[in-house]
Amino acid sequence: MVRTELRAVIRGTGSSLPERVLSNADLEKMVDTSDEWITTRTGIRERRIAGPDEPMSLFATRAGEAALADAGVKAEDLDLVICATVTPDMPIPATACVIQDRLGARRAAAFDMAAGCSGFIYALSVADQFIGSGTFRRILIIGAELLSKYVDYQDRSTCVLFGDGAGAVVVTAGEAPFGVLATSMGADGSMAEFIYVPAGGTREPASEKTVAGRRHFIRMKGNETFKMAVRSMEEASRQVLEQAGLRTTDIGLFVPHQANRRIIDAVGSRLGLREDQVYVNIERVGNTSAASIPVALDEAARRGRLKRGDVVLFAAFGTGLTWGAAVCKWGW
Ligand code: UT7
Repeated sequence: MVRTELRAVIRGTGSSLPERVLSNADLEKMVDTSDEWITTRTGIRERRIAGPDEPMSLFATRAGEAALADAGVKAEDLDLVICATVTPDMPIPATACVIQDRLGARRAAAFDMAAGCSGFIYALSVADQFIGSGTFRRILIIGAELLSKYVDYQDRSTCVLFGDGAGAVVVTAGEAPFGVLATSMGADGSMAEFIYVPAGGTREPASEKTVAGRRHFIRMKGNETFKMAVRSMEEASRQVLEQAGLRTTDIGLFVPHQANRRIIDAVGSRLGLREDQVYVNIERVGNTSAASIPVALDEAARRGRLKRGDVVLFAAFGTGLTWGAAVCKWGW
């Protein structure tokens, strides 16, 4: 969808990561793996892990507060809070409501967006539609995930990948040439079991048997997912660039979902991007799912990697399978 009139403009960013660092050396003591394997196969050196008493909403609220402060927007002026997550505080209700209360965003509607690692792109697309239609003017989008709570630390094929964290952006109604230029979303549910948690939902409610069978932990077909990831991120990126009338040479910064360094490099090279056009922080945070793009974006903004007028491309894929991309002009 291409917006030509009112556009969602990113006014502020924020992020929050747990303090505890889980290094590759720590993982070597837990499963049969090595720093060498993890670094060469994924690019990850360490990730942050939440403590036992720290729920997702804690980091999501902190990231939201930081984004509001950066944007100079008051919580009570927000129209909507979207929390992109597949790791809510509780199955019921939406964690966005918990965050709305913590922030004091009394006027805001609130809902969660369960699109896995594509959650931030999905939420940005939805926010852009609400702003483009004139329904809302100030929206807080949070991508927050505590996948460590779903990771089986006996499964070396998944436990080395995931980290915890939260990132947020405040989008407000703005005008061309700034803001979201185009977005794209896709899904293919026939691959729903490429990345999934079998039990704990209505299909297989929690029981002693499901717990004993370790069925509340994440399972993944890594190889198959890898191939889909590269293809879908490249295609979605090309689609939004075409919709916006841009070429890959126009890109100032590509902020991809940080799932695997090899996926990021493959997509970057297929798009013909130089290394300095791609923002990568996977070595320090691992795969933080829906949090990964807003955390990376917040870092990039704070490190001076974005200038007013830069074309910024986002692309992601994740459980579902889902994928998406968005392109925006930075600044306002
Ligand atoms: O955000 C979406 C989330 N999902 C993803 O991003 C997943 C995308 N996929 C990937 O990133 C990669 O497929 C992985 C990093 C998960 C795996 O890398 P791979 O190069 O595809 O390895 P593989 O699964 O083909 O496994 C190769 C070998 C296997 O051993 P054998 O069968 O060849 O003897 C695995 O058992 O590596 C072994 N292996 C490990 N060895 C040491 C798998 N995990 C580990 C490990 N340490 N942690």
